[in-house]
Amino acid sequence: MNGVNDTRRSLLIAEDDAVLQKGRRWTFDGYQTLAAADQEDAQQEYRRLSATHQPDALAGLITRDPELLRICRMVEKLAASDATVLIRGESGTGKEVLGRALHGMSQRAANKFVAINCAAVPDNLLDSELFGCERNASTGVSKARPGKIELAHGGTLLLDQIDGLPRVLQDKLLRFLKDRVIELAGARGKTPVDVRVICATHHDMKALIAQKRFCEELYRRVAEVVLDVPPLRGRSGDAALLAHVFLRRFAAEYNRGPMTLGSDALSAIEAHGWPGNVRELLNCIKCAVITTSAREVTAADLGLDKMTHADVAFSLREVRDDAERRAVLSVLSRVNGNIAKASKLLGVSRPTLYDLMHRLGLKPQPRFEMPSGRQGLGSR
Ligand SMILES: Nc1ncnc2c1ncn2[C@@H]1O[C@H](COP(=O)(O)OP(=O)(O)OP(=O)(O)O)[C@@H](O)[C@H]1O
Ligand SMILES: [Mg+2]
Repeated sequence: MNGVNDTRRSLLIAEDDAVLQKGRRWTFDGYQTLAAADQEDAQQEYRRLSATHQPDALAGLITRDPELLRICRMVEKLAASDATVLIRGESGTGKEVLGRALHGMSQRAANKFVAINCAAVPDNLLDSELFGCERNASTGVSKARPGKIELAHGGTLLLDQIDGLPRVLQDKLLRFLKDRVIELAGARGKTPVDVRVICATHHDMKALIAQKRFCEELYRRVAEVVLDVPPLRGRSGDAALLAHVFLRRFAAEYNRGPMTLGSDALSAIEAHGWPGNVRELLNCIKCAVITTSAREVTAADLGLDKMTHADVAFSLREVRDDAERRAVLSVLSRVNGNIAKASKLLGVSRPTLYDLMHRLGLKPQPRFEMPSGRQGLGSR
């Protein structure tokens, strides 16, 4: 089918050898054809890049985070099946991007990808949006209209914010997933629909099930495979990588010529928590490109100059010290300052732990003890 091979290139991990034999390599600008003399070097460079980068030619997914790369590999494998996939992750993490990539790499790629946000459509319209409606003079519907499910026939349907589906429609969707037919009162009767369903949510579905707000049987149907997309703040190096890519993209789109990120901007980007994830970062860079007149974007241009980014650790020594300090403090707190127990938990000898604490400037913690005769506030 059209588009399958092209899209497979865009999330290419396993086929690096095949690509190299064709003399191409992936860069931030997509695939480049190499001169024969360069191909030997490129073999090595590509393997290094493919271990850390996610090519983005068509699906537009950019990452070098190991966990997200693992999810991309899962998506590649899932594309060959019709399994119903639930994509979980905070808002703006790229759930729809992954859903589109899954569709684009599947045998359904030549057919439609239809997305609907279940939480954004008013409850009274959602039924007909999803399942369609028949002509009905008494309700003022002048023409029969297919719903999103039917429109996605042969392709893929993304049900975004599936948690927003009202209970009555949850039951209706469950029935559809079992029978794979749309049933409308009136002339058309039952219409078989062949569609792959992908769902997305940023809610804890297990909690919704416990509160009886989501049907457990439907959950089991839609969550044959669950993918957890990490938030941007949890992805190593991705914020700066994406910022560079978005800067190039928007500088080209707005004819701004070459633009760069100043080192204070990069520090601020790395230090910021990005609660709105990739969408927030994208908007932030876009806004800076439009509003900044200089070629170099500063932290102030990004609106991140008030952030506390001065203490971002760069050297490996600083990073290691920071990690060791946090581990030691956490274990000491857990064992109430008992050095013998702490050294056992940390897997080092007591003298080594004392040396480490000395180097990190940590003093042995006073142990917390319950005052005698008091068992706690409740015993008063
Ligand atoms: N890894 C990525 N590389 C490049 N662009 C990305 C990436 N992840 C997300 N984006 C971009 O960020 C924006 C938000 O992504 P998307 O709509 O897929 O998020 P979402 O998780 O579905 O959000 P929501 O929960 O709000 O529906 C889009 O413009 C998308 O193209
Ligand atoms: Mg979405």
